Amino acid sequence: MLKRILFLIVGILAIGTVGFGVFAWRPSLAKVPQPTAASFSPALVRKGEVLASAGYCASCHTVRGGQPYAGGYAMATQFGTIYSTNITPDRKTGIGGWSEAAFERAMRQGVRRDGAHLFPAFPYDHFSKLTDSDVSALYAFMMTRAPVVADERNPTIPWPLNIRALQAGWKLLFFRPGRFAPDATQSVKWNRGAYLAEGVSHCGACHTPRGSLGAEKRDQAYAGAAIDGWIAPSLGKTNSAPVPWSHDELVAYLSTGVSQYHGTAAGPMGAVSRSLSKLPPADVAAIATYFASRNGSAGQEAKATAALRKAAASEGIGLGLQYDPAARLYAGACASCHYNGKALNPLRPDLALNSAVSMDDPTNLIQVILHGVSAADGAPGVVMPGFSGFSDADIARLAAWLRKTRTDKPAWADLQNKVAAIREPGRAQGKGE
Ligand code: HEC
Ligand code: HEC
Ligand code: HEC
Repeated sequence: MLKRILFLIVGILAIGTVGFGVFAWRPSLAKVPQPTAASFSPALVRKGEVLASAGYCASCHTVRGGQPYAGGYAMATQFGTIYSTNITPDRKTGIGGWSEAAFERAMRQGVRRDGAHLFPAFPYDHFSKLTDSDVSALYAFMMTRAPVVADERNPTIPWPLNIRALQAGWKLLFFRPGRFAPDATQSVKWNRGAYLAEGVSHCGACHTPRGSLGAEKRDQAYAGAAIDGWIAPSLGKTNSAPVPWSHDELVAYLSTGVSQYHGTAAGPMGAVSRSLSKLPPADVAAIATYFASRNGSAGQEAKATAALRKAAASEGIGLGLQYDPAARLYAGACASCHYNGKALNPLRPDLALNSAVSMDDPTNLIQVILHGVSAADGAPGVVMPGFSGFSDADIARLAAWLRKTRTDKPAWADLQNKVAAIREPGRAQGKGE
């Protein structure tokens, strides 16, 4: 009897495995001769160049100081590190032998030319929404880049999660392939913005929280999420910026990296605004239209005016002769640049207006104090020095003081440990304090 049950279980498992194997199987698509540059119209290549910028292909597919698009960029996920691949047209190590059909399948379905499933660290769940002509333009752009020889690096994801066929199960659970479906009740501009934001620019990949298996939670779109040691703030009604993000503020932030009434695009957002600055202004405005319609900023001028007045009133707090150690730190380290007494200087964000100070989570403020803002992030060429020489206690004291004097929000808990964790991400995990 026991034997029979065992046979049955083994049988079911075998059939299940074979069935899953059949379900997960994708054909390998044959290599094709390299298309020549002349086979693509210059206009199509130019269009692809703009789309590649809108999709930040270079930021994920290039290591610091490396050849553009040659891959090897490490992406930390909760399961291990995944490396981007070489998407230059090198025939052996890149995508040189890929037909447009193979490229399209990768972009829309997350399947490699050889039939293996790709991990969703590659945001194909967003690229799936691209129109055919946009995929063609991206193909034309990639195939006309200089080929670079660069071998693939294997992910450090442990067995069995590294079995690519299992990604078919992930896709079954979470992936909804399909083109972008315009909303007929909205304007052409809104739909253009939605198409770019949901598709090639995949704003949700950072701004939408993910579930335990790493899929974006659809019912919490743009609610804010942790990404690479930073917090990508909510882009909806729960955004905590004192001045609501109007259409014009979004345009300024997304296309120049600086918004007068908010702050600058630092951390992982730096590369985003740098890339979006290459888009036609109408496209950035369309993205702004889409988010301004979702975040309820219309008609909030009174709220903005009140926030600005309040910020101006808090400007002088901490200046002058000080005995409070936190205020002294501020006066010594920050006020010389951040004092906006006479007029707002968008290049030195007003800390009473900056989301980093008003968010529920102190992470971004700690990041900025520790590491500053590099010339490449935020306003191009503008630098804020980092203060990593300050002790954890001093940074915690300063952050708590800014929170108290610049906002009405509750104090942040456990600040000093958070500073330690952000200063040394690896070590803090095992500390267990
Ligand atoms: C958020 C980071 C990220 C962005 C942005 C990104 N990619 Fe990737 N891409 C990856 C990773 C990681 C892989 C490898 C996934 C794997 O090994 O399963 C990948 C794989 C690919 C592949 C499959 C290539 C192969 O050799 O297997 C193609 C094609 C590709 N990306 C094209 C693009 C294009 C075109 C863009 C811009 C429109 C882009 N990617 C933007 C991270 C990214
Ligand atoms: C690679 C991850 C990433 C992507 C992709 C991304 N963002 Fe961000 N975003 C962030 C992070 C991190 C911040 C916080 C930056 C800071 O504090 O300086 C941020 C900040 C912002 C802010 C400022 C919010 C505030 O209250 O301060 C806006 C607005 C924004 N992003 C819009 C967008 C839009 C629109 C897109 C898509 C076109 C997008 N982001 C794509 C990571 C990302
Ligand atoms: C030497 C001038 C200087 C000093 C000193 C300075 N900052 Fe800054 N800070 C800047 C500039 C410039 C920017 C904008 C950077 C950019 O856009 O590239 C900035 C940006 C910021 C931001 C906004 C980042 C964002 O994502 O929007 C915060 C928060 C901030 N500083 C906090 C502080 C604090 C706290 C101190 C004191 C510990 C301090 N700064 C000291 C010049 C300074």
